[in-house]
Amino acid sequence: MKRLLTGLQPSGDLTIGSLIGGIKQSVEYQNEYDSFIFVPDLHAITVPQDPTLLRDRIKKNVALYLACGINPNKNTIYLQSENVYHTNLSWVLECHTYMGEANRMTQYKDKSKKQENVSVGLFTYPILMAADILLYDADYVPVGIDQKQHVELARDIAMRFNKKYGSTFNVPNPLIPKVGAKIMDLQTPTKKMSKSDTETKGIIFLLDSEEVIRKKIMSAVTDSEAKVYYDIENKPGISNLLTIYSSFSGLSIEKTEEKFKDFNYGNLKKEVADVVVEKLMQIQKKYQEYMDSGIVDEVLNQGREKVEKIARQKYEEVMHKLGLGRN
Ligand code: AMP
Ligand code: TRP
Repeated sequence: MKRLLTGLQPSGDLTIGSLIGGIKQSVEYQNEYDSFIFVPDLHAITVPQDPTLLRDRIKKNVALYLACGINPNKNTIYLQSENVYHTNLSWVLECHTYMGEANRMTQYKDKSKKQENVSVGLFTYPILMAADILLYDADYVPVGIDQKQHVELARDIAMRFNKKYGSTFNVPNPLIPKVGAKIMDLQTPTKKMSKSDTETKGIIFLLDSEEVIRKKIMSAVTDSEAKVYYDIENKPGISNLLTIYSSFSGLSIEKTEEKFKDFNYGNLKKEVADVVVEKLMQIQKKYQEYMDSGIVDEVLNQGREKVEKIARQKYEEVMHKLGLGRN
């Protein structure tokens, strides 16, 4: 079975966009691949973080992933910071990456423009990401298009290393997910619903209460035509509500459109709120059970134990090839 590896940034609370666009795909992949899912918490500190919030979010997000259907028996789930070989290998890879290559990373250019004090860690972050991937000989790395360049860097470093020291790392492939439904912000339906936005009125978080979910959906921005049909260009608000209904109910967009063609906007919103509430209440119930049961720690302990062995072996091979240490 081919190995798939992906990192889930703990940078914000998960939204229905994360569920529809990301988690749902991972739930499908788990049946096809030997899946490794880890929380790149060391990556999170490349920008300032509040330690209490970060600690809380890491565990919450893992519990939410499980509640959304990520099966701990089919996935190896672990925290990056609990395995020292990520940073050990990252140093070795830094010494095999050229400044010119690192300088070309467009995400660094974007992110560093938005900050006052840019850390060296933000600059070297793609090399830590290469270590995350190469340590486990991943075949596939599902990432958004913004991360493709980083996976290509990992490939280049792997090939260079293999050429110089003999076959050591598997050369990974980025896996760009098929474009699924894109969930837009309820207040600004021309913009993607994003978990890191500071204006939260148009964002449904997976842990929002029923009351808050209903309120956010009932006040979603629409248009003045008072006719329900799907037209992203001219009716982004209504189209987004139809997309949300379709994604949560499993009904196609065409059938969803047909179902609501004679509804007024208020009644459409109420139906959308009903399916979202039903699904999220199920998820929240499971989430609470996972949080109360200690299973998150169990899963993370098991993951840590398993990946430590794999990573140590790979790192020792690398040390040997480089002439480091005594063996
Ligand atoms: P995030 O939760 O933002 O880290 O994203 C996790 C995955 O969900 C990524 O593959 C994103 O592309 C996807 N995603 C995030 N927000 C949305 C959204 N509003 N609509 C569709 N997919 C999304
Ligand atoms: N950089 C990725 C992001 O911002 C997260 C990440 C870190 C990752 N290490 C990884 C993703 C390794 C895939 C493989 O989303």
